[in-house]
Amino acid sequence: MELTVSNAIETKQAQVETTMRLAAVIPVVIIDDAKAAVPMARALVAGGIPAIEVTLRTPAALDAIRAIAAEVEGAVIGVGTVLSEKDLKAAEQAGARFAVSPGVSPRLLDAADDSALPLLPGAATASEAMSLLERGYRFLKFFPAVPAGGAKLLGAWASPLPQIRFCPTGGISLSNAQDFLTLPNVLCVGGSWLTPADKLKSGDWAGIELLAREAAALRKV
Ligand code: 3PG
Repeated sequence: MELTVSNAIETKQAQVETTMRLAAVIPVVIIDDAKAAVPMARALVAGGIPAIEVTLRTPAALDAIRAIAAEVEGAVIGVGTVLSEKDLKAAEQAGARFAVSPGVSPRLLDAADDSALPLLPGAATASEAMSLLERGYRFLKFFPAVPAGGAKLLGAWASPLPQIRFCPTGGISLSNAQDFLTLPNVLCVGGSWLTPADKLKSGDWAGIELLAREAAALRKV
């Protein structure tokens, strides 16, 4: 397929691919207290999980991204739940190195074209994946992975959409991650199970490091 793609998006796509290949799992973090950000990120990195997505679902998110970007060596900090140009700009200013969105809108894609921040956009259907491919996106989040059809649906896209590699997210945990990582069109998975609210609240960094270690032992096959 012939695609007209700007150099800018190719560079950003390469950055997304590198991030997706750092480990088998990208933790999806919902953080209520920005003070937890640095010790949490240190625990994830110590456990072998460098790329971290902090979602813009709480007022603490941008401060958390700022703190991790400034203080946690070895972390590749990303921003999740990006819905608008405003979100992209705020995250870039806070120091995020990649952005993730649950789906896309034409306005968000225009903003991403103008932004230096690499975007991993969400798709839940073959048509959405094809539209994103037309705009130069070969690395997509498959969301919500399990409710949308799970590994069976995603595996069925491998043959007709061989150019695309996915990070399935939504309903994934240690027990079903391998089902996705076995697929030829999956590079990594995303999930919130590494940073549960109770461990973030109680400051159980050793527990988070252990969850990260288990996740880091998963392998892309
Ligand atoms: C996301 O926020 O991208 C997903 O909802 C994370 O899903 P999970 O909580 O099922 O891992």
